[in-house]
Amino acid sequence: MSEGILLEPVARGTLLPETERVARLQSALPQILAALEGETDEVAIQATLACLLWETLPQANWCGFYRRIGERMLAVGPYQGGMGCLRISFDRGVCGACARTGTTQLVPDVQAFPGHIACDDATRSELVIPITVGGRLQAVLDLDSPHRSGFSLSEARLLEALMTQTFSQAVHPSPGIG
Ligand code: SME
Repeated sequence: MSEGILLEPVARGTLLPETERVARLQSALPQILAALEGETDEVAIQATLACLLWETLPQANWCGFYRRIGERMLAVGPYQGGMGCLRISFDRGVCGACARTGTTQLVPDVQAFPGHIACDDATRSELVIPITVGGRLQAVLDLDSPHRSGFSLSEARLLEALMTQTFSQAVHPSPGIG
């Protein structure tokens, strides 16, 4: 599979009405799962999800992963969009709050979120979803939008289920090659 997914083209930056966004995501989900079928490499899964969710979510200006690299530290992983912060400690920002609490952070207005890290001044809302394997946080999915309320609770729930499905098939750590 290398053709990406079939979706109506929508210009980057467009905030579709919520019902259309949910329908678009629902039509993308089986295609994303098919694209990842049988893949067990964590980085291959992250990179492909970053690519395909970027196509699915035109309201996003950043779409990607922060990986846990220490007890309380995240480092940037595969993503689409402008350059992101390289490292985020569990004490900082929306990603840190997600990593610290292990719960999804749906932030309709980042200016009202104490400690938000402004990697891109244009960002107005954010959705961060924890990826937990065997009870331990492995990474977070970070989605940013230049629109207020760029992501809804329905989108968050669908994406949480996608993260569970796709990362439960990943091998931790990836098997050695030697
Ligand atoms: N806004 C995020 C930082 C990550 S970047 O925007 C890509 C936060 O506050 O966690």
